[in-house]
Amino acid sequence: MQIAPSFLSCDFSKLGEELVRMDKAGADIIHLDVMDGHFVPNITFGAPVIKWARPYTKLPFDVHLMISEPHRYIRDFAQAGADIITFHVECDSNIDETISLIEECGVKPGLVIKPNTPASAVFPYMDRLYMVLVMTVEPGFGGQCFMEDMLPKVGELKKYADEIGKDILIEADGGINTHTIKQCSDAGIDICVSGTGVFKADDAKAAIEKLKKLCE
Ligand code: DX5
Ligand code: ZN
Repeated sequence: MQIAPSFLSCDFSKLGEELVRMDKAGADIIHLDVMDGHFVPNITFGAPVIKWARPYTKLPFDVHLMISEPHRYIRDFAQAGADIITFHVECDSNIDETISLIEECGVKPGLVIKPNTPASAVFPYMDRLYMVLVMTVEPGFGGQCFMEDMLPKVGELKKYADEIGKDILIEADGGINTHTIKQCSDAGIDICVSGTGVFKADDAKAAIEKLKKLCE
């Protein structure tokens, strides 16, 4: 299991230090939640913050766009240093064009599904994707309760990927901690985002080790 601490739960007054702390703690990926106050009822940060954060770690930046019109901003996030850009299948941009633009920018594309969206919504795009992100909370805020009933979507996604002969990563996001990670690993998830579970732990290294151990 790969662990992707969500930057949303960090202390933004010490952005650089927080990233170095996650790097040393054994994080595999850094998950960055971008919210526009329109697609979701919360506003976080944009490409400039990601650009400032970029020099502090070599870990891959997994940028999760919770914004209505991702297509308008893909170039900015790519230039800021994103390695993976995921955007919502429920957004207002054209999905195929947005995937193409992410590819053109040399970034790995992924699609995200909200809790009320079926796994099948991403099937038409699956052959073009590097990753599918399954939300296990309603997007918008950290620290919410894990929605266990989202896990069957993972099997459906894997089954479809197998059918079309596609190797794809499945990431889960929201409410993942020591109580819920085992279910994620049993469901076949490859990458777990954890915000509060890692950033707010007294010892982030011990928290990441424990999360990984629970998946063995
Ligand atoms: C929610 C975000 C998540 C969130 C996860 O909209 O996409 O990445 O920060 O935080 P926790 O792990 O605290 O649920
Ligand atoms: Zn996220």
